[in-house]
Amino acid sequence: MTVAFILNGEDVSVDSEPNRRLIDILRGDFMLYGAKRGCLSGICGACAVIFNGSLSAACMIPAFRVHGSEVITIEGFSLTNNYTDVVRGFSLHNVENCRFCGAAKILLTETLLAEKELPPPGEILSAFDSIRCRCTRSENLPAAVMEAAEIRQRRRRGRKH
Ligand code: FES
Ligand code: FES
Repeated sequence: MTVAFILNGEDVSVDSEPNRRLIDILRGDFMLYGAKRGCLSGICGACAVIFNGSLSAACMIPAFRVHGSEVITIEGFSLTNNYTDVVRGFSLHNVENCRFCGAAKILLTETLLAEKELPPPGEILSAFDSIRCRCTRSENLPAAVMEAAEIRQRRRRGRKH
């Protein structure tokens, strides 16, 4: 089937078997390697992308569901000011971003901040339960996400500090 969708803001299309995984379309057809092939069963979070506005496991999305959707990968998101806000918040609170789940944590933060300007710590912690991260202490995450939110608010008001 022809799978037409919006990928990082651009209209794209590929020929694919209907059940091929989105993670394999991204890596095989578009050379986008930021989403990782981990457990391939929706558990580890390493393959996360923003799919129609929500953080989703690209290993669990078949091509027929990709048709007509909007997908944002870490490669597309990294070109935005919002990305810079998140990375700055992470680095100020010692949140690691290794190649396994760094992209997933950044994209998850973006979806949280898109929903609420300043999400409460409990919501942040339970959202991060969906990512199996071996590098970061979970207690650092709420402060990092809230820092990113405040950096974003200051940037939007036109102040640097
Ligand atoms: S590879 Fe998709 S959730 Fe683990
Ligand atoms: S940053 Fe290394 S596993 Fe999460």
